[in-house]
Amino acid sequence: MSDGLDDVVAAETVLSEVDGQAGRLVIRGYPLNQLAGRTSFEQAAHLLFDGFFDDLPGDFTAALGRARGEVFGEVAALDAGLKARSPIEAMRALTARLQDGDTLDIAFRLLAAPAVFTAAVVREQGGQAAVAPDPKLGHAADILRMLRGAPASAAEAAALDAYLVTVCDHGLNASTFAARVIASTRAGLTSAVVGGISALKGPLHGGAPGPVIDMLDGIGTPENARAWIEAALDHGDRLMGFGHRIYRVRDPRADALKTAIGRLAESSNALPGRLAFAEAVETAALTILKERKPDRALDVNVEFYTALLLEALAFPPSAFTCVFAMGRVAGWIAHAREQLAGGRLIRPQSRYVGPEPRRAA
Ligand code: ACO
Repeated sequence: MSDGLDDVVAAETVLSEVDGQAGRLVIRGYPLNQLAGRTSFEQAAHLLFDGFFDDLPGDFTAALGRARGEVFGEVAALDAGLKARSPIEAMRALTARLQDGDTLDIAFRLLAAPAVFTAAVVREQGGQAAVAPDPKLGHAADILRMLRGAPASAAEAAALDAYLVTVCDHGLNASTFAARVIASTRAGLTSAVVGGISALKGPLHGGAPGPVIDMLDGIGTPENARAWIEAALDHGDRLMGFGHRIYRVRDPRADALKTAIGRLAESSNALPGRLAFAEAVETAALTILKERKPDRALDVNVEFYTALLLEALAFPPSAFTCVFAMGRVAGWIAHAREQLAGGRLIRPQSRYVGPEPRRAA
C-alpha cells in the first residue's frame, strides 16, 4: 500500500505533465514559461479544453464573458448567513447552486463561477454592493474590475493573467484527483468542481498562501527571519509556501510568478521592497530547512510568490485560495471532461486491518 498514493498512476492525461526531479511543468505540450506571461487565461483554458490556443476563436472569449453574466444572477442568494462564512465557503456554496450536467454551456458557467462569486463575496463582506460582470472585457481585467468597482491597469490584468495561467493545471494534484473521482461517477461537472474547491481549501494544498502573508507579517524585517522561522519549526509548524509532494527541486511556478511580480513592480512604489523582503525570507527559510532536514529536498513552492502577487493586486489574504480556484477550475473541468470521455469509475480498494469478524452469539 502507498500512504498518500505517491507512486500510484491513477489516470492517463494529455493535459499536463509534472516532472518533480527536473522542476518542469508542461501544459498540453507547452512548457510553462512559454505560456505564463505570454497568454491570457482564455487562451490557456482553450488549450486545456481543445488542445490549442494560438488562434483563440472570438467565441471562446465571448462564451466566457456571457457565462460570467449568467452566473452573476446567483449572487442574489448571498444572504447574511453565507456572508458570515469564509470567502471560499461562500464561493463554494454559490457554485454548488449551479445546475449540474456535462454540457459545454455548464462548463463555461463553471469556468466563470469562482471569479464572479469571489469578487461578489469579497465586496459584500466589505459592505459594498457586488459589481456585475462586463462580458466585453478579458476575464482577468473583469475580475479586478468586479473586485474593485473600477478598471484595473493593463499591467495588473496581465499579472493576474500570468497567475491564472500558471496555476491552471498541475497533473493529478489532490483537488484534480477529487474532481476526476467525482466525474467518474457521472455526477456532473458542477459536482466535480465543487469537490475540487473543497479539496483545494485545505492548508496543505491551496490554503497555504494566506498563511504566507501571516508569516511575512509575523517576521516583519529581514533580520528577524531566522529567529522567527527557527521558533516556528521548534513549535512543530510547517513553513507555508515550502515543500511539495512531487517537486524535489524548485517549483517552476514560483519563478513564473516571480517574473510576473517583477513586471508589476516596474509600475509600483511598494512592490520592489516587498519582493526584496520576501526573497530574504525565502533565503533564510531554505538555509534553515537544509540544516534541519538535510535528507529532504525542501524548496519554495507556488504558494510563496502567489501570496506576494495576489497581495500586490489587492486581493485580501482570506480570498487567496478562491483566486487559486479561478485558475485551477480550468484544469478541473478539462480533467473531468477527459475522465468522462474515456475513463471508468474510479474505485480503488482498501485493506481491512480492523478486528476479526465477531462470532454470532
Ligand atoms: N516546513 C517544514 N517541514 C516540512 C515542510 C515545510 N513546509 N514540508 C515538508 N516538511 C517536512 C515534514 O515535516 C516531514 O518531516 P518528517 O519526515 O520529519 O516528519 C518531511 O518534510 C516530509 O516531507 P514530504 O514527504 O515532502 O511532505 P509531504 O509530501 O507529505 O507534504 C506538503 C507536502 C503537504 C506540500 C508539505 O511540504 C507542506 O505541508 N508544505 C507547507 C504547506 C504548503 O505550502 N502547501 C502548498 C503546496 S503547493 C500546492 O498544493 C498548490
